Amino acid sequence: MSSHQEVYEPCDDSFALVDALLADRNNLLEHHPSLCMEIGCGSGYVITSLALILGQEGYGVNYIATDINPHAVEVTRKTMVAHGVGVELVVTDIAAGLEERLAGLVDVMVVNPPYVPTPEDEVGVEGITSSWAGGENGRSVIDKILPVADRLLSEKGWLYMVTLTANNPSEICQQMRKKGYGSKIVVQRSTEEESLHIIKFWRDFDIEKDEPNQSASGFIGSLLTHIPLFSLWRGTNSDNKC
Ligand SMILES: C[S@@+](CC[C@H](N)C(=O)[O-])C[C@H]1O[C@@H](n2cnc3c(N)ncnc32)[C@H](O)[C@@H]1O
Repeated sequence: MSSHQEVYEPCDDSFALVDALLADRNNLLEHHPSLCMEIGCGSGYVITSLALILGQEGYGVNYIATDINPHAVEVTRKTMVAHGVGVELVVTDIAAGLEERLAGLVDVMVVNPPYVPTPEDEVGVEGITSSWAGGENGRSVIDKILPVADRLLSEKGWLYMVTLTANNPSEICQQMRKKGYGSKIVVQRSTEEESLHIIKFWRDFDIEKDEPNQSASGFIGSLLTHIPLFSLWRGTNSDNKC
């Protein structure tokens, strides 16, 4: 895999996101996505892994990835070429300039956003800082991505997103529920530094949009029904130092 000093190297959060995709592999294969998208592709580790997970059965799938950091897009290009995966790469802020073309077309979206709580003025600055700087509660970029995801996802679209406890994942699920999305935690992982939740969102046509006070119980309910998946928990492993 290619690397660059100004590009985020795959870390615990990237591994947890790919583990979530692996845990959901059978569903992904049955899902037959036509278009998969990553926002904030960094090194390309996640979208390349998704392409490898879909493998031969993913023949004909189109991949598109964006990053605000031009070096990241270059590294992703090299990583995907090395694995023989074709991809459209765009240097842009989230999906600016693509929304009209991709509206309602994305079947699988993966996002490991900058989620670390930081001063607001660190968000979106050039280079590696934009990899983690998430502003207040680490939510500045996440809160911009969610409505974009809603516009781009197809009727059967799924979103897999990394969040940190400090981001208030249950509130994120409530917010998405108001837009008509069901959610569940596919992987939850605690490291020395952080507690990560990989949440999967899908359009749930049984949810009445903007229905009040359903979401928190929905989130906890989904947490309880997915307790077996917590067996995927992987403790801090010195081999995974970032
Ligand atoms: C935590 S890193 C994740 C990188 C890679 N997806 C992974 O999991 O290893 C977040 C990535 O999002 C990119 N990013 C930050 N703000 C962005 C924005 N507004 N639009 C697009 N990409 C952004 C960063 O440059 C960085 O590559």
